[in-house]
Amino acid sequence: MPRLSVLLIRTALVYFAAGFTLGGLMLVEKAVRIDPVLWRFFDAHVEFLLIGWTVQLAMGVAFWMLPRFAGGTSRGNEPAAWTAFFLVNAGVLLAGFGSFFGLPRAVSLTGRVFEVGAALAFAVHAWPRIRPSP
Ligand code: HEM
Repeated sequence: MPRLSVLLIRTALVYFAAGFTLGGLMLVEKAVRIDPVLWRFFDAHVEFLLIGWTVQLAMGVAFWMLPRFAGGTSRGNEPAAWTAFFLVNAGVLLAGFGSFFGLPRAVSLTGRVFEVGAALAFAVHAWPRIRPSP
């Protein structure tokens, strides 16, 4: 498995664990009312699980499995895929924690823009690899 896929999938697993934990805390708060401050994890829960876990897992597996070029050795535009890795993680952290720390809305918005940038960068990488077998 290529190094970037290892990084993407391991990072996705960290978000999986963190997102479930935050969801569990909110669920407990809903049932037994410990401290309403736990609801501030809402955005982080959603970002971690929807983007950090599911999208990033798909990116990791796609980078590994999509058809390669040049006799099966080249994965094409790898810098675009690395850019997607950095953008998606910066985006999830900014969008997830922006509201938790009460930061200006521009922080969460920047996170979402980074996430869109990650999607575009990954599409630039993956598009030429999506083709029928010769
Ligand atoms: C892949 C798994 C999951 C995804 C994609 C996910 C996604 C979401 C999303 C999108 C919301 C917002 C719903 C809304 O706006 O009304 C939400 C809310 C919530 N999630 Fe999750 N979730 C996942 C797993 C879990 C788990 C495992 C738990 C608990 C252990 C959990 C607990 C909660 C709670 C307590 C809320 C707030 C519900 C409310 O508004 O009362 N989630 N989740």
